[in-house]
Amino acid sequence: MLARQDGDIPWVDESRGVVSREIFFSEEIYQLELQRIFARTWLYIAHASEIPNPGDFVTRSMGDLPVIAIRADDGTVSVLLNSCRHRGVRVCRAHSGSVKNFVCPYHGWTYDQKGHLLTTAADKFLPPGTDFSQWGLVHAPRSDSYKELIFASLDPDAVDLVDYLGDFRWYLDIFFCRTPAGMQVMAPPQRYRVRTNWKTAAVNFGVDNQHVFTTHVGPFTVQPVTIPWPQRLKAMEEGVQIVAEDAHCVSLGFTQFEVPFALYPEEMRPLLAKVLSADQQKILSGLISGAGTLFPNLSFLERMIPSEKHGMGKTVILRLWQPISASEMEIISWCLIDREASPAYRERSLADGLRNFGVSGLFEQEDVELWATIADSSRSALAQRYPFSFMTAVPAMHAPATDFFGPGQAYRPVLTEVTQFRFLRYWNQMMTGDR
Ligand code: FES
Ligand SMILES: [Fe+2]
Repeated sequence: MLARQDGDIPWVDESRGVVSREIFFSEEIYQLELQRIFARTWLYIAHASEIPNPGDFVTRSMGDLPVIAIRADDGTVSVLLNSCRHRGVRVCRAHSGSVKNFVCPYHGWTYDQKGHLLTTAADKFLPPGTDFSQWGLVHAPRSDSYKELIFASLDPDAVDLVDYLGDFRWYLDIFFCRTPAGMQVMAPPQRYRVRTNWKTAAVNFGVDNQHVFTTHVGPFTVQPVTIPWPQRLKAMEEGVQIVAEDAHCVSLGFTQFEVPFALYPEEMRPLLAKVLSADQQKILSGLISGAGTLFPNLSFLERMIPSEKHGMGKTVILRLWQPISASEMEIISWCLIDREASPAYRERSLADGLRNFGVSGLFEQEDVELWATIADSSRSALAQRYPFSFMTAVPAMHAPATDFFGPGQAYRPVLTEVTQFRFLRYWNQMMTGDR
């Protein structure tokens, strides 16, 4: 129920570290999320490398609004509401492509790459002096990009993107812009639907380290281990979880190897050192696995590729958890690579990304199969009396690590639920009007 009564389980109980089940399946809460979260924050739209040339476009959603991101002849990117100004038909029906103009399939209203209306196909019957400039596709009120990550906001008064990302940019740089030429997507994204609430995935990537040793024990057992377990565990101990700007979370499992950037192909190593600060290099040089969530629904994951046959390598996965309803989301999943990567490294990285985190990937199947049981098993009145536990967050929240050199609030070890709970606390503050 949206009107909270005395005695109701709070959505997020900070003192006990528990969270109401209903936020993971209630349609009423989801409708409120569309207004209070998805209509107010910056939302990820696309990577610039998906639309490199004039006329290139992709279609995405901002909350429940379908949008088109398109690059125009002058190189600028517009984020346009994908709804014809005549009668609302979805103007663009494809996931991606390249066009000179958009022609609405219903009556033929035609828009250029910036959304300007060119013709209605019945212009001669319009009242004289009809001002076409008033009838273009609607632009998202704000759009901007950071290191080729394109975002938009439905709130004209949203803080600037650079401030929304804030200190988290320091970490985004490590994952998304660490060589002089930057990164690019390797292929169009995979898209698939899972019957679970979008926040289940957002907190899993931001960051549920506890599940790794049970959910994923299978692949860890069968895949060749190129990094011995003692070194992996050391990375977990030396690693940190960070919350930046109160909302965005990342977990970094890193240690120091004898060779700097040992987990990267040799040809990449000097490039990494060219772009990053000494402290950023220290993290990336020893990074075994990193994962994070940018509030609200963008996540990323980088892991080393455990291949004895092919040697070391890295794969970077970018994820958008696109809500469809309270209990269903579409996952949009990209594999990214540094532009300077050799063809062999590129191929290895893409194969690893898809094999493990593609729609039928080993790790992916294990996660989504479990996530898909949460909403259905939580709806009953009986189940709702018993909230979810994030209790390991409570002691951790009061004991941040003070010796970490990166920005944001750091916590050690990486095995508590502190960043997940901080994410939900921020969600709760936005939902209840405290932000
Ligand atoms: S609805 Fe698009 S032209 Fe009529
Ligand atoms: Fe997982």
